[in-house]
Amino acid sequence: MYRIKFKIAIILGFTGLINFQSFAQNNWDVPADKKSKNSNIEFNSGTAKEGEGIYNTNCKSCHGDIGKNNSLQSLKPVPPDLSSAQSKALLDGELFHILNVGRGLMPSFKEVLPESDRWKVIAYMRSYDKDYVQIISKTDPAKANLVKIKMVFDSINSKLNVEVVANEKAGIVKLKNAEIALFVTRHFGKMQLDKTLRTDNNGNASFDFPKDLPGDKVGNVELIVRVNDEIYGEIESISKFKIAVPTDKPSLTEKRAMWNVLAKAPIWLILLYLSGVLLATGVILYIIYNLYKLSKSNNNLKN
Ligand code: HEC
Repeated sequence: MYRIKFKIAIILGFTGLINFQSFAQNNWDVPADKKSKNSNIEFNSGTAKEGEGIYNTNCKSCHGDIGKNNSLQSLKPVPPDLSSAQSKALLDGELFHILNVGRGLMPSFKEVLPESDRWKVIAYMRSYDKDYVQIISKTDPAKANLVKIKMVFDSINSKLNVEVVANEKAGIVKLKNAEIALFVTRHFGKMQLDKTLRTDNNGNASFDFPKDLPGDKVGNVELIVRVNDEIYGEIESISKFKIAVPTDKPSLTEKRAMWNVLAKAPIWLILLYLSGVLLATGVILYIIYNLYKLSKSNNNLKN
């Protein structure tokens, strides 16, 4: 009896621990660059009203009515009332990230709602917080396609010089102090070359280009420059340059490649392999035959 009680105590202890963990997990760990993202839609009574409609169809079933603490209690963890102190403390960028990625029973809305709708739901949530002051993003998504990225390779100093400008109606604007990074396309994804830099007052940045970077047979590499500007947003430009070391990788059908699919193994190797397989099969059959003989003689003894 004592033992059973002990077991029950252990089981209860464990389930208690698991429950405790699922309650304790309210820390969302949003990456810094996602945290600082802001909406370029203004949160006002109009956008909040639109957000209310989006909330009622997509969120209410779990989170209940905002401010009424009537969320679906059968879920674990229980979805918080989105006007709770815990939710209010989250930054706009954090809320946006939570809507994008979800967690457990909280669905991801990235593919379900367009970006503007995701911000409008947040506008609706914020309409329940009297102390909230919005920081509007200066990024204008429509401006991204005005941006031109020019790349010039300086072979003497092995540098890739980049100039970032925007062709505004009023004239050419140089993008100052924009975050800029250089990548090279590899077989699986892309690899960053040099550090992430910032453009100078003339919209220029200069990357150290490795002298020993392998390219294709003739030395071509595909370079990607990614610019992140406060006003113009994120812009990416891809171009091919013949500035890497020509590298002759063996193709899949080439004779000397280990994974070659065309050339056959030498005949002696095939024979050696087959005789090995036959020998092993022979031994197994021999054992089975002997076991069979043994059981036969056992039967004879009984009779
Ligand atoms: C299927 C149920 C469900 C739906 C639908 C749902 N949520 Fe959630 N939501 C949850 C659960 C459960 C959590 C808690 C997740 C956790 O902490 O791991 C949560 C957490 C959140 C959080 C984090 C709050 C905090 O204080 O930690 C936000 C913000 C949020 N949801 C917003 C929304 C919005 C906005 C919608 C609609 C667009 C929505 N949710 C739709 C279940 C849901």
